[in-house]
Amino acid sequence: MAAATSGVEIARQHLIDPEICIRCNTCEETCPVDAITHDSTNYVVDFERCGSSRCMACIGPCPTGAIDSWRQVDKAQPYTLDDQFSWDILPTQAEFAQADAAEIPTDVAEITAEASSGQGGPAAPPWSAAHPYLNLYSIAKPAVATVMGNHRLTAAEAASDTHHIILDFGNTAFPVLEGQTIGVLPPGLDERGKPHHVRLFSIASPRDGERPHYNNLALTVKRVTEDHQGRPVQGVASNYLCNLQKGEQVQVVGPYGASYLMPNHPNSNIIMICTGTGAAPMRAMTERRRRRRGQKEGGDLMLFFGARSPAELPYFGPLMKLPKDFIDINFAFSRMPDRPKQYVQDLIMARGSDVARLLRDENTYIYICGLKGMETGVNEAFHEVCGQHQMDWEQLLPALRKQGRYHVETY
Ligand code: A2P
Repeated sequence: MAAATSGVEIARQHLIDPEICIRCNTCEETCPVDAITHDSTNYVVDFERCGSSRCMACIGPCPTGAIDSWRQVDKAQPYTLDDQFSWDILPTQAEFAQADAAEIPTDVAEITAEASSGQGGPAAPPWSAAHPYLNLYSIAKPAVATVMGNHRLTAAEAASDTHHIILDFGNTAFPVLEGQTIGVLPPGLDERGKPHHVRLFSIASPRDGERPHYNNLALTVKRVTEDHQGRPVQGVASNYLCNLQKGEQVQVVGPYGASYLMPNHPNSNIIMICTGTGAAPMRAMTERRRRRRGQKEGGDLMLFFGARSPAELPYFGPLMKLPKDFIDINFAFSRMPDRPKQYVQDLIMARGSDVARLLRDENTYIYICGLKGMETGVNEAFHEVCGQHQMDWEQLLPALRKQGRYHVETY
């Protein structure tokens, strides 16, 4: 296969790992579109037939998991059946040349710089983060996704209208990692007659898809009806996304983000601090860890989540169902009639000794996402906790940033 170059259309090719496959024929029997065949050496998958079906019927029955093998390939030059018959081992993943940094839209660079200003500029990713793909789809050549679901997350009585939106990329490869963002191009023109500029959204699902092994991802989108000062406005992209019907198509650019990525090594702890739709990357990381529970990956998860009330908190129900020994959840509700106002920073202080224990551990990584206003309060809370536990936050914070252990995305 020829080396891929910038601008190629990338596809996800289904393959079978010859090292693991026991040649039991289950996949060939199961495949409803006859995409799988074999010779005396290997079982192989026909790219065209499999891709047009994408049914995943073969994945479950395979006794070894050899069937669950995938590579990003140049869509015009997938691995042929003859290539696959000749393999003893799967080829390594080709590195696709990424679009030039100059092609990253100015809006995206500006939004990203502003969102991460609270971490003191660009931060390194955790050392054990997976390698992200960046900027595979540009404004000139966006990927087209299909809406597979659009559900309201906030309770019926809630004032805010927050949606869980599932976008499917079909046969177009759109590889993402937890913590990355995508850009959405709303259709139509703005009041100056120009195309609307790109809006960024954090991905709310793990790298293997909102539905495992499907080529889709989820977003958490709050319908914007007022600006930061409380004046009425109609958020262009959020209203567009929240109104989408199943089956409609959306133009997507990205993915973006090479720093706000999760650690993958054993015993790596994650402290997550979020408000409102800042829950998106936390849900992605939590779901990744939940799906891989039992494997030697990761340590403690501690979540501080602020919302006006349970009815306004995205994913309240699913979060409540997570086992207590899997994640330590702390909800801060600010507008409960019967309780004093609580913010995430209040709970960080209330849980001071557990937070301090994690801060002492060099395997702890901190992620903050949500309202810009919380940055100061959260910083003060860490300062206070450190002071009470014989640590110096002013010394620790620069070290955390340098080691890719402190990540902020606020708006
Ligand atoms: P508040 O009730 O005071 O606005 P929103 O619903 O606007 O997206 O906000 C999510 C949560 O973040 C709310 O509980 C809100 O409280 C809270 N919040 C607002 N400002 C701050 C801040 N400076 N620090 C921490 N949390 C905040």
